[in-house]
Amino acid sequence: MTHPLATRFPSRAALALCLGLLAVGLETAFAADATLPPKSEINPAAGTGATFQPPPESEIPKNEFGKMIKLGRDIMLDTPQYAGKYVGNTLSCVNCHTDAGRMAGSAPLWAAYVNYPAYRSKNKKVNTFEERIQGCFRFSQNGKAPPLGSKTLVALQSYSYWLAKGLPTDEKVAGRGYPDLAAPALPPDYARGKAVYEARCAVCHTASGAGRYVDGKTVFPPLWGDKSFNWGAGMGSYKNAAKFIDANMPYGQSYSLTPQQAWDVAYFMDAHERPQDPRWKGSVAATRAAFHDSKFSLYGETINGKVLGDIGPPKNH
Ligand code: HEC
Ligand code: HEC
Repeated sequence: MTHPLATRFPSRAALALCLGLLAVGLETAFAADATLPPKSEINPAAGTGATFQPPPESEIPKNEFGKMIKLGRDIMLDTPQYAGKYVGNTLSCVNCHTDAGRMAGSAPLWAAYVNYPAYRSKNKKVNTFEERIQGCFRFSQNGKAPPLGSKTLVALQSYSYWLAKGLPTDEKVAGRGYPDLAAPALPPDYARGKAVYEARCAVCHTASGAGRYVDGKTVFPPLWGDKSFNWGAGMGSYKNAAKFIDANMPYGQSYSLTPQQAWDVAYFMDAHERPQDPRWKGSVAATRAAFHDSKFSLYGETINGKVLGDIGPPKNH
């Protein structure tokens, strides 16, 4: 079977680097813990009880609608290339919505599609599906919201609709979002998180969190710094991040961290600087009061002697 990453990395060098690191990562992880389930069972879906299967790509219709669905898939897989004018970092949707948005337990698009329109406390209004996607462009992609009705949003919506074929509208579809994660026994901790990061994450995402690139393409996405998601993104809540990491990371080793390790490493990741929140209110304190009044956001907290988010107004918004 072709590795899912292979389809995204036309360059042989990129693929070799990627698969090589994956093998190293898998070997060390599996050698360390004999209590893990068989490799074949470890993917994010395992913890969700999801039964729905989106249709295979071979069933994309060969007509005008099919072309739009394919464009949506392409945008998911390489967002900077196919929707570059709305992107301000080096991430693609697929980095957080794995397997081109198909994977249960990785906020799959099919489960999302049947859940909108919905009220969101984040912007205090009922959001259409298109508006929900706009949010991921603005925050997770650190970019600009594509206009409603633009080809970019029509393509992503067409792809999501097609993936959800046969699924009834249902607020509780199994596999939506990320699986629940037990609360940590101890409060999440930077030093313990750093140790988990160095042992289990740095091999791919690098010690500096900056990710790896080959021929200008992202092979392993950046977790913090100016090329990652911004302070307004969902992943900037270390609760969301802990749930994502528990089910999806290290890549290919879902559920191999303890809940405590997932919380600690999520805290460590979200305790680093990243692009400013585009809803910037003129100061860190005012922005924190307006948008980060949550114990799961470290925006405005002092870590290692620095106030997180104290980097001035947003750029390129
Ligand atoms: C074997 C390589 C590998 C290891 C080890 C690994 N990751 Fe990842 N990670 C990836 C890849 C590849 C993606 C993108 C997934 C995709 O595009 O399908 C990713 C995506 C992510 C993302 C979402 C995208 C982003 O940049 O924010 C986060 C967060 C993340 N990883 C955190 C972690 C953490 C924390 C660890 C350690 C517990 C870890 N990863 C270990 C390969 C790895
Ligand atoms: C840095 C990681 C990241 C990137 C990149 C990203 N997203 Fe998201 N996305 C999230 C998180 C986190 C959530 C919230 C999941 C939750 O609340 O369970 C989310 C939620 C969503 C939802 C709603 C899911 C639901 O069930 O309600 C949609 C739709 C979505 N993203 C689409 C996209 C698209 C399209 C792109 C690319 C243009 C994208 N995302 C890029 C992290 C990301």
